[in-house]
Amino acid sequence: EKGGYEHFMIKEIYEQSKAVRETMSARIAKDDSAIVMDELKWNKEFLNSIRKIFIVACGTAYHAGFVGKYYIEKLARIPVEVDIASEFRYRSPIIDDRTLTIVISQSGETSDTLAALKEAKRLGSKTLAVTNVVGSSIAREADQVVYTWAGPEIAVASTKAYTTQLIMMFMLSLYMSEIKKTIEKDYTKHLIGALRQVPSQIHEILEDVEPIKTFAQKYGFNEDVFFIGRSLDYAVALEGSLKLKEISYIHAEAYAAGELKHGTLALIIEGVPVIALATQESVYEKTLSNIKEVKARDAVVIGIALANDDQIEKYVDHIIKVPTTDELLAPLLAVVPLQLLAYYAAITRGCDVDKPRNLAKSVTVE
Ligand code: M6R
Repeated sequence: EKGGYEHFMIKEIYEQSKAVRETMSARIAKDDSAIVMDELKWNKEFLNSIRKIFIVACGTAYHAGFVGKYYIEKLARIPVEVDIASEFRYRSPIIDDRTLTIVISQSGETSDTLAALKEAKRLGSKTLAVTNVVGSSIAREADQVVYTWAGPEIAVASTKAYTTQLIMMFMLSLYMSEIKKTIEKDYTKHLIGALRQVPSQIHEILEDVEPIKTFAQKYGFNEDVFFIGRSLDYAVALEGSLKLKEISYIHAEAYAAGELKHGTLALIIEGVPVIALATQESVYEKTLSNIKEVKARDAVVIGIALANDDQIEKYVDHIIKVPTTDELLAPLLAVVPLQLLAYYAAITRGCDVDKPRNLAKSVTVE
């Protein structure tokens, strides 16, 4: 059932190219001019009336929500708050009938996410579930549901669920932007064109994993690793750090690069690995100056950058490049080397990749 792979996790990492293609299929208009969401039964007036969106989830799905916030705010210009489900359900959020609550859950069974969904409904919010499992509790409870079509995810560490959730959040944002008329048609077309490239670009990354394997073997025995990035790179850093912790048991922290000076820089000493994500054009120079800061403390920096970046080599010790794409879609590519890094670090340390200690695939208790 592992299809020749040693673990479900690596199988699922490799399935991502196909999985994201499935998520997109039938949801893009033939001429690439718009996103089609036939499954959403809301009328345009309702979507136009939304004044506030909450995105609520746990773990990796929460990190996908983080990316979703950037997408919705940038493209559809609706204010978004992202919440961890176990916080949201107990913190009396301010909700009315012009609020939309989006819950994201691979399994559709996570107890806190389900409870948060019920709480949002009770307070009068409209609800939308983004899930992978048809007929799951969360799918049944929400007013509307969109499926990610990633196929079954067995490994405890979530991989293809995350990338398909990102695709879904991106498409939802474009769909909302069309209704709200917040972006130009040409920009929509450009983004859809870039979206269509993502499956083959993921495939391209997976064709050569040797350099990542080598880093994992080299740094796999360090006890602390830092991930830094700005904007969407920060969101990806959070996910990369969770992946590493959960399966390799290495202490990992993700930091918004601009926050380093406010505390964490004290921990950056000679030889500490820092994974620096630098795929976001709009904050690129700022990220470079943060990379210089950690280099000045003799950290070992592994940069993750786009293929067309010809500067970064000068500032980092090692570099992993991913295919060039629009900065909004870069998380889909940048996360893949981080998943692989976590996987090979766990292998190097002899950890049980598919069943990390103390964790379960589906968290159905509080
Ligand atoms: O099924 P869900 O998406 O609701 O699960 C949420 C989290 O439990 C899950 O993403 C968890 O953080 C993973 N083990 C991360 O790899």
